[in-house]
Amino acid sequence: MKILVLGSGAREHAIILALRAEAAGHEILAAPGNAGIAADATLVTLDPNDPATVTGYAFENDVDLVIIGPEAPLVAGVADALRERGIPVFGPGKAAAQLEGSKAFAKRIMDAAGVPTGRAARAHTLDEVAAALDEFGAPYVVKADGLAAGKGVIVTEDRAAALSHAETYLPVGGVLVEEVLSGPEVSLFFVSDGDTVRPLSPAQDFKRAYDGDAGPNTGGMGAFSPLPWLTDRFGSEADFVAEVTRTVAEPVIRQLDVEGTPFIGLLYAGLILTDDGIKVIEFNARFGDPETQVVLPRLTSPLSRLLLSAASGTLESEPQPEFAADVAVTVVLASEGYPESPVTGRPIRGVDDAASVDGVHLTHAATAAQDRGLVATGGRVLNVVATGADFAAARERAYAAIERISLEGAHFRTDIAARVAG
Ligand code: AMP
Ligand code: GLY
Repeated sequence: MKILVLGSGAREHAIILALRAEAAGHEILAAPGNAGIAADATLVTLDPNDPATVTGYAFENDVDLVIIGPEAPLVAGVADALRERGIPVFGPGKAAAQLEGSKAFAKRIMDAAGVPTGRAARAHTLDEVAAALDEFGAPYVVKADGLAAGKGVIVTEDRAAALSHAETYLPVGGVLVEEVLSGPEVSLFFVSDGDTVRPLSPAQDFKRAYDGDAGPNTGGMGAFSPLPWLTDRFGSEADFVAEVTRTVAEPVIRQLDVEGTPFIGLLYAGLILTDDGIKVIEFNARFGDPETQVVLPRLTSPLSRLLLSAASGTLESEPQPEFAADVAVTVVLASEGYPESPVTGRPIRGVDDAASVDGVHLTHAATAAQDRGLVATGGRVLNVVATGADFAAARERAYAAIERISLEGAHFRTDIAARVAG
């Protein structure tokens, strides 16, 4: 198959590595990709957010499947344009991608579909915000309604801080005040063809910058999969996944279909396991980053078939995706100053040495090849991914590998999957 992957991060690198692992000899193109992806796919220079450019390229080059990695091309309508031209594409259209882009839209769909989530009130003025804060009580949760690059949510005991967060986002799309939910968080991905859904294996990510969940929120500093503690709580991972499929994924997909905006792509359910049951915190309309980097290395059935059958509306005849018993851990190497003001342009050394550790591979997030060698071009630079028979083994490999990489001022969390490793 000739497959075009849109995006340039570690998530897209992980998708490409999973396609290559099939050993089916796919021709893989990446637009725009990065220096790490260049070793595993042919880079194409085009604007991944421009519907006409992407569609023209895919048509002229007989691309069999387009996989959209990030949300920006979805929101720009790239999937709609490809579908209109009859090109198979994995990724929802603009309308269904609102599930990620608008918290109010997601809440409305969940209400209509009877999906369990926190109570929320949409506020348009500071007075409405204040009233909602007092109704729900502390700790306060205030969310920007639109896309806010991961900075849209505040959870705080400080009423003044909650109000000031609301003040920032009220003029730019409005805010939602939500009841606070507590419990462990789980990311669960579903592949959907607009009608049928197929779950992948659960993962957990680490959103805070520093060890012990200290510091600011980030795009994600690490992840692991599967989640052994689900077995204690639900009897088995399969029972947990079946419950979320039935109570969350299927009703949401059905509701979007009924409304004439079928969701064809990756439904990312961000869940919180409260004492009151499983509740949805958020949906994303794309693979999660960095969870994808630990979910896909464990997938033993072919990814291309799964995504093509979703794109073609034939998922019902596909078997359930299968996963290895081996576990996976990923640790993100971040630039000095990330997430506030990352320092970029510094040389990275030791990546080959790191990748030579048994059971380890790297996925690149923000790297470029220059005359002087590999340099960091963003906040999250690369992921070390390690698999192993258990979490202690995978962690040991991941940390042995990341120690071999040198990037001045870089930081990473040392406690990824520490608790499950015992
Ligand atoms: P979101 O952008 O909706 O994923 O929120 C980012 C993070 O904020 C989540 O991963 C949670 O850790 C936290 N969060 C969001 N909503 C709530 C809530 N209602 N109660 C407690 N924590 C929340
Ligand atoms: N890992 C969180 C996200 O992808 O949004």
